[in-house]
Amino acid sequence: MMNRTDHILTQLYSSEDIQKRIEQLSSRIAADFRAEEIDLVGLLNGSYMFLADLTRSLHAKGLGMRIGFLTLSSYGAERRSSGRITLHQDLRLDIRNRKVLLVDDILDSGYTLQFACSYLLERSPAVLKTVVLLDKPSGRRLHMEADYAGFSAPNAFLVGYGLDYGGKYRERPDICILADPSEKG
Ligand code: IMP
Ligand code: MG
Repeated sequence: MMNRTDHILTQLYSSEDIQKRIEQLSSRIAADFRAEEIDLVGLLNGSYMFLADLTRSLHAKGLGMRIGFLTLSSYGAERRSSGRITLHQDLRLDIRNRKVLLVDDILDSGYTLQFACSYLLERSPAVLKTVVLLDKPSGRRLHMEADYAGFSAPNAFLVGYGLDYGGKYRERPDICILADPSEKG
């Protein structure tokens, strides 16, 4: 049933597509880090679901890890990145001399990942790599690439699997394109 606050969602990646891709990503990551212990740093809120599935998949491949979180935001309820990143909650892991994998849901303009990388590099990790489930190359406003990326996504606003619009839809197990509200019938 639709009400005035519902949006039109079109599925882009099913839950099965996502799980398959995470298996492939974690195989590459586990091979690159060769069963060493790593520190995973998830960017909240968007990465929580991806991080949960990725860590279980990495565990199954023999990788040991510690897990920490950093809460950043740039969006508010807008669809476009403001470019102004705010730190809401600091990381509580000491990552000095550690192998760190930064995890985010989506790389769009690049502002968020760039901010998070500079922030973590100030803490002198031995290695810093980045993984994102989704990459939207068309949205890039600065030079920033992830070391590992799940899907190259179209130029559309996506929700589900941790991604929200105004706080909604994070709980969906799939990823959908959110139609422009002006397109609503
Ligand atoms: P960037 O700073 O523009 O690269 O955007 C990265 C952050 O913006 C991600 O961590 C997401 O939380 C959010 N974001 C970017 N694109 C989308 C989208 O299509 N849907 C929902 N959130 C998005
Ligand atoms: Mg995010």
